[in-house]
Amino acid sequence: MDIVVSGVRPTGNLHLGNYFGALKSFLKMQEENNCYFFIADYHSLTTHPIPADLHENVKTVLVEFLACGLDPEKATLYIQSDLPETAELYLLLNMNAYIGELERCTSFKEKIRTQPQNVNAGLLTYPTLMAADIIIHRAQKVPVGKDQEQHLEMTRTFANRFNRLYNVEYFPEPVAYNFGENLVKIPGLDGGLKMSKSDNENSSIFLADSPEIIRKKLMKAVTDTGQVDPAQPRSQGVKNLFDLMSYFSPPDTLAHFEHTYQAGAIRYGDMKKQLAEDIIVFTSPFREKMLALAADKQYLRKVAAMGAEKAHASASKTVREVREIIGFKSF
Ligand code: TYM
Repeated sequence: MDIVVSGVRPTGNLHLGNYFGALKSFLKMQEENNCYFFIADYHSLTTHPIPADLHENVKTVLVEFLACGLDPEKATLYIQSDLPETAELYLLLNMNAYIGELERCTSFKEKIRTQPQNVNAGLLTYPTLMAADIIIHRAQKVPVGKDQEQHLEMTRTFANRFNRLYNVEYFPEPVAYNFGENLVKIPGLDGGLKMSKSDNENSSIFLADSPEIIRKKLMKAVTDTGQVDPAQPRSQGVKNLFDLMSYFSPPDTLAHFEHTYQAGAIRYGDMKKQLAEDIIVFTSPFREKMLALAADKQYLRKVAAMGAEKAHASASKTVREVREIIGFKSF
């Protein structure tokens, strides 16, 4: 039985990338492991959300976790800020994290490029907070999408550095993991490489999207002019459609469109319509459950309290032991 930790930032509804990169693994892993899944609300502060929005977004993710089938009796589901021990471990790890390595992190460099007006210390030290989240439960496996691979590498660096510095074998080396598969990156509908919450709204399909919205978004998806030469490499937009189809459509549907593409007879309108319907079949059951759960405040409160209590038991033990290792002693 492994210790498993992972988190999702509360920045709105979950999209298909979050599902296939993370949640699908969470669902499988909760069956046989000691799992801690949390809503990373400390992390989301790097973008300065309005307080009322922050709370609403945390609630949305909790509802969507449950609607997807995460079971609070099997896994520990909690809200990151309910575990202030994380903030203490983050402080301690920051003492052994170097500016150079943090500045070299791809996600930090990306933020400097996309939001030069708000390059705060929280962004720079995002990887140490993430490492604290993971090693506070001394996790071995971290189910995430491919975009988080570098953060996991940094987590291993910080965990190993702590062990070396204090000459202990305290923290295990956690690995990025996708239950039984390679790490995935679900593409967006805008011809970009990754479905992402922060990009253009129309590039992402959310689990909560209605069938009408899904159809509309698919119709706007970027392809190419339709003058297909199968011998030439596919445009990114077209590759993305085929990639999405491999997740949502039955194999014979995918094979049919592959065949028409190879024959130079593809009609992207038909392909998009089919893909929209297949995605709707996939998301509809989640939407129905979300509506029921969102109305049940009492249950949500109970789930969050139960998760906070279980996460606290694990985290407080780690922080107590880390304090001893470091040399904080009471008189
Ligand atoms: P976040 O909130 O951006 O994304 C949550 C999870 O969804 C995955 N994901 C994707 N997977 C495949 N294709 C995509 N297009 C796609 N978009 C998102 C992400 O890889 C992630 O697994 N830093 C994390 C949150 C976090 C965390 C942690 C994760 C904080 N502390 C500790 C694991 C362990 C983040 O921003 O994820």
